[in-house]
Amino acid sequence: MKIIEEIGLMRAEAVGIRSANESLALVPTMGALHRGHIELIRRARAVADRVVVSIFVNPTQFAPGEDLEKYPRNLQADIEVCKAEGVDTLFTPAVAGLYPDGFGTTIDVGEIGTKLCGLSRPGHFNAVATIVLKLFNISRPTVAFFGKKDFQQLSIIERMASDLNLCIEIIGVETVREADGLAMSSRNRYLGTAERKAAVAVPSALNAASRLFKKGVRSSGSIISSVSELLSRESLIEVEYIKIICVKRLEEVEFIDEKTVLALAVKISGTRLIDNLELC
Ligand code: PAJ
Repeated sequence: MKIIEEIGLMRAEAVGIRSANESLALVPTMGALHRGHIELIRRARAVADRVVVSIFVNPTQFAPGEDLEKYPRNLQADIEVCKAEGVDTLFTPAVAGLYPDGFGTTIDVGEIGTKLCGLSRPGHFNAVATIVLKLFNISRPTVAFFGKKDFQQLSIIERMASDLNLCIEIIGVETVREADGLAMSSRNRYLGTAERKAAVAVPSALNAASRLFKKGVRSSGSIISSVSELLSRESLIEVEYIKIICVKRLEEVEFIDEKTVLALAVKISGTRLIDNLELC
């Protein structure tokens, strides 16, 4: 496995792969790789001649007061994971390489970046789209993989690829979960024993919502009340939002009769967790 830090070298590597007519899959990550990331890598490995994984904790997508400084970093363990998964190239750029002095151009993803998580994280999705576009331009993938756990992020990247005619296939991958249902996340390691126990209420509430939907309940209000009630039983959980939105515009719907997702964000003793459930 090649490990490339320098942007020019990564670009040259990508040009070489593409001019040999090989397909290239990119899996963008912020490292601290877990089974969710590994699933993306495996899906990439299954479809592409060459797999590039990027690890970059993108400072611009963290607001002041968020967890940029304490975000888990473990490059050595990540290198071992990537080697074991047959990754061809690990791209580990430096902040100064991606954001040199004078950097000023950014992507504005428009209204969908202001909804859901965008409400409490203004500018976050513009920063995500900007770094993802930069990674696309450097590594020139034919296909790129993103997790459905970050449902809004995936929608925004799909939107950007379509709006800006990127000619990159964007593939969404199902959420990988712990045995008790908690969605895998690099931030789960912030949870202490009590918080980790409380966190199970999130997938349990989503399962309850799924059962209601399967029984024929189509009112968003009823499903949201039930999820809210279940989460309120855990005193450590503070709900940020619970919404049922249409997949296309990320707008809230009162009645579920099109492709919709129940999306939620909670805080457990300061750790922010998100999860979602496809309803239709
Ligand atoms: P990160 O949180 O490291 O996630 C990298 C990719 O892994 C994302 O596409 C995310 O949705 C996916 N992922 C995380 N947990 C998952 C799970 N449990 N199951 C399936 N996929 C999962 O998301 C980012 O980094 C950054 O915002 C990034 C896109 C790299 C831009 O900086």
